[in-house]
Parts: sequence; structure tokens; C-alpha cells
Amino acid sequence: MKKLEKKLAAGPVDFDSFFSQKALRMKASEVRELLKLVETSDVISLAGGLPAPETFPVETIKKITAEILEEHADKALQYGTTKGFTPLRLALARWMEKRYGIPMSKVEILTVAGSQQALDLIGRVIINPGDVIVVEAPTYLAAIQAFEYYDPEFVSIPMDDEGMRIDLLEEKLEELKKQGKRVKMVYTVSTFQNPAGVTMSLERRKRLVELAEEYDFLIVEDGPYSELRYSGEPIPPIKHFDENGRVIYLGTFSKILAPGLRIGWVAAHPHLIRKMEIAKQSIDLCTNTLGQAIAWKYVEDGHLDGHIPKIVEFYKPRRDVMLEALEEYMPEGVTWTKPEGGMFVWVTLPEGIDTKFMLEKAVSKGVAYVPGEAFFVHRDKKNTMRLNFTYVPEEKIREGVKRLAETVKEELKKL
Ligand SMILES: Cc1ncc(COP(=O)(O)O)c(C=O)c1O
Repeated sequence: MKKLEKKLAAGPVDFDSFFSQKALRMKASEVRELLKLVETSDVISLAGGLPAPETFPVETIKKITAEILEEHADKALQYGTTKGFTPLRLALARWMEKRYGIPMSKVEILTVAGSQQALDLIGRVIINPGDVIVVEAPTYLAAIQAFEYYDPEFVSIPMDDEGMRIDLLEEKLEELKKQGKRVKMVYTVSTFQNPAGVTMSLERRKRLVELAEEYDFLIVEDGPYSELRYSGEPIPPIKHFDENGRVIYLGTFSKILAPGLRIGWVAAHPHLIRKMEIAKQSIDLCTNTLGQAIAWKYVEDGHLDGHIPKIVEFYKPRRDVMLEALEEYMPEGVTWTKPEGGMFVWVTLPEGIDTKFMLEKAVSKGVAYVPGEAFFVHRDKKNTMRLNFTYVPEEKIREGVKRLAETVKEELKKL
């Protein structure tokens, strides 16, 4: 332990005795701590989930920011309303209508400090302790963390190449109904999922909405990657098929502009938006107004539509190289998803290999990944891992996968 840390840890005050029960249960994951060290070393990290900084439209942001400060400084530097900067809400409503064919007005839009904040707001306004929440297996780690705080009962549904197994969901819904339990909400990262990279098929999207009607639950559709398509045909969001306002759609500028702005949005029925707005008041009063103004001009002036193809063009070769390298180097018995977009490939190793234990060895060979276990609410799958292909340049992706394959081969010998 470093000197300062030691001094701070050994102070006279027992701070733990002050923490709430919930805070006491919060723990930093060991894997995250290990990966933090990796970020500063020579290890090729396929672990992160970051967009490539080369895709940030720096010059456009500079220009837009100067214009905003010239023309709208009074509003852009002021507190805003909790529901968000009205011109941005209007622009987003129009954009969603144009892009996804979802008729939308500004009363259905709430802007938030990244879609991560929306996940917490959903937890606040929807989840009572013990409520049954359905998630995908695997699912987005920080969604588990956001919802977990509100003490739900998680039910996880396996996925295949077409996303969540809706047939298994249906069986589960029936089983729970017989037990007198109601599912309140189904959370899905429907397109180019984090962590698995897969996309829910059109047929399943439609069926999920039908089931929501039949069994009376809400759907949270988290869509941060949906614009990053490198191959295949676009599929409308689940929200497109939602006639009665059961789908809460989460959008974000993090992967199509820059995550540092911390601007996302919720598109949902006004009744849900209103409750989330009230919940948000006590958290931050309003989302960063200058950031919202920048996002507004970015959409309004057509930069967003022009920029998305550039990001896609930048990431596609990285995705291709990762898939090629996996094909070339991985031994038999290893499988992986073939994402048509997004940022991640999900790798499954033969049973018996624990990727959490393997990580240290991989790091010693100069490559890092995220062990899959933490993406499962019940932490019951040990032989999977998530690889990111957006952050590291092509030649490093190839070399990283090669090193990883060597590590896997050595582990296989031990089985
Ligand atoms: C599925 C998913 N949801 C939400 C987020 C949060 O994104 P942000 O808060 O930057 O909008 C991420 C970020 O990686 C994500 O992968």
C-alpha cells in the first residue's frame, strides 16, 4: 500500500460505522481494480468500453461551442429545467421520428446526464424491493449495479444469436404467473448488445411487445450502440412497435458524439417522463445545460447525420480484424459472437476454464479482457469474456487476440 493510502486507512475515525446499510454493501470489484492497473501499462487492453477519441468531432464541437456562447450564452450557462433544454428535446423528438419512424413529441423526452442516469432513475421510480425484473444473460454490468441498489429479484433469460430467447421468457412469465408473481420490467440492450454484441431479431422484438401487453410489464430498451452498424440491415427499435407506451427507450450521445459531454435522453410515455423528472430534481436539478446546447446544435445543424457514417467507417475495420484474428488464432472449442455493429465481441471458452482466474496470466502475456462472470446477475457462468474492438488500433487488436489465444491454449492443456 502506498504511504498516503496507509495513513488514510489507519485514521482514528471508524467511517464504516457511519455508512448506510446500502453503502456498506457497495464493493469495488477486484477485476476492475486489476484492469485499472492495466490501463497504464504496456498491456494491450481489449477490456475497456471506450469509444476511440479519434472519432470525436473536435473541430465541430469547437465551432458549435463558440456559436452558442456568442448567441445563447444567457441560456447555455444558466440553470435549466429538470426535463431538459427544450430545443434539444424538440430536436431529439424529430430525430427519433425521422430515424426510427416513432412519432414523438417533446413531452415524451427527458434529457439526462448520460443514459446511466436514466437507469438509476428507472430504478427509483419503478423498483420496489422484491419486484421481479428480467434482464438478459449476460447483461450490461452497470445496469445490474444501478437496479441492484433498489433490491429487485432478478430473473435472467439466456440469449442466442438473435438476442434474448423470447420463448424462454414466455415460459418464465407463465411460471411466475402461476406462483402469483408479476414481472414489472424487462431490460434489454436490444441492438449490438453490451456485452454480447448480438441483436434481437425483428420477430422477437414484436413478440416481446405482445408479451408486455399480455403479461402487463414495461420494457426498458437501452440503445447506445444502435447507430454503429457495420454490416447487415437496420432493424427498428422495439419502441417502434410500442402502441401503448410500454417501452422506455434510452438514447445517448456517448457513442455518436462524445461520452465526456454526459448527455443522454429518455423517450417514453409522458406519465413516466413526469415521474422520472420529479425523481431527477433532487439528484442534479438539471442536466449540464452547455452540454445540452452543444448536443442540440449538433443534431439541429445536421452534424449528427453526417458524423455517424464516419464513426462506422472508422470502427468497421477494427471489428473485421478482431473477427479475423479470432478465426486465425483461437483453438478449437472456443466460440464467439459475430456482431454486425457496436463495440464488443463475446467469447465463450470450453467449460472448466475460469476467465477470472485466467486474467492474471493473460495480463502477464500482455493482453487484458473483461471476465464474463460479472455480466450475469447470478454470477453463474465462468468461461466467458468480453472483448472490445473500438479503442485499440487494428495491429494491436490482432496482436492482442494472438496473445489471448496463446493464454487460452495453455489453459486448455490443464483441463
Ligand atoms: C448498455 C449501456 N447502457 C448505458 C450505458 C451508459 O452510457 P452513458 O451514460 O454514457 O450514456 C452504456 C455505456 O457503456 C452501455 O453500454
